[in-house]
Amino acid sequence: MDINVHNITPGEVLAMFAVELQAWPKNLQAPPEKLKSRIANFSEGVFGAYDEGHLVADTTSQIIEYNPETGLNKSWSEITDGGFISGTHNPAGNALYIVSITVIPKYQGHGIGTKLIEKQKELAREKGLEYVLIGFDLEGYDEYNNSEPISIENYVNLKRNDQQPFDPKIRFYTRCGLELINIIPNFSAGSAHAAKYGVMFQWKNPELVGEVTE
Ligand SMILES: CC(C)(COP(=O)(O)OP(=O)(O)OC[C@H]1O[C@@H](n2cnc3c(N)ncnc32)[C@H](O)[C@@H]1OP(=O)(O)O)[C@@H](O)C(=O)NCCC(=O)NCCS
Repeated sequence: MDINVHNITPGEVLAMFAVELQAWPKNLQAPPEKLKSRIANFSEGVFGAYDEGHLVADTTSQIIEYNPETGLNKSWSEITDGGFISGTHNPAGNALYIVSITVIPKYQGHGIGTKLIEKQKELAREKGLEYVLIGFDLEGYDEYNNSEPISIENYVNLKRNDQQPFDPKIRFYTRCGLELINIIPNFSAGSAHAAKYGVMFQWKNPELVGEVTE
């Protein structure tokens, strides 16, 4: 599989929508007007992954002001202006917030999501941003907790036998070099498919944010 990753042009909104239709349940799909608005507000943060010219995955982002001392304890809708980013994208901010990342099911598990996260990290470096952030639902917790009750705090730290995180999304973002900063109840509030909890993950730009040593 020879996958190319580059910025998406405004003319490809319908191809992005086709990716949404394949990867997300109905009421988590971003309609074309939201995708269009993300490109109009911050086209640099919109990347596509292409297999022989066909769009098979994409990611969108925005810039926000972020204080690492307080974390980011808001819902996805509050952080992203309901997915439009018109009222939340702040070119003067210090962090790149990943609004969405979507790989169509047939292409999942082939390293494409990792490539897209790398692109967003590269963009953060180019723009001199200190952090990359992403919040996401932990639907895996609800499923696990139903069959074997566990606290959310214990679930996020649960490991497989090979010491990799148990939850597939936590495993994915951890491998991409991000780390957990806070747990967010009702992260996708209002969505019929919302999980009980979401989490916020961050990557620190090593060129700009050093480890604090006492
Ligand atoms: C989560 C996602 C972006 C990962 O992209 P990808 O190209 O499949 O991931 P990679 O091949 O780079 O990495 C593989 C890892 O991704 C995770 N992953 C793969 N498919 C997944 C899925 N359907 N759901 C959740 N995580 C998944 C696993 O951790 C996997 O590692 P494993 O082999 O140890 O299980 C992609 O699977 C996806 O779009 N899923 C559906 C929509 C979604 O959940 N988007 C993310 C919102 S936060």
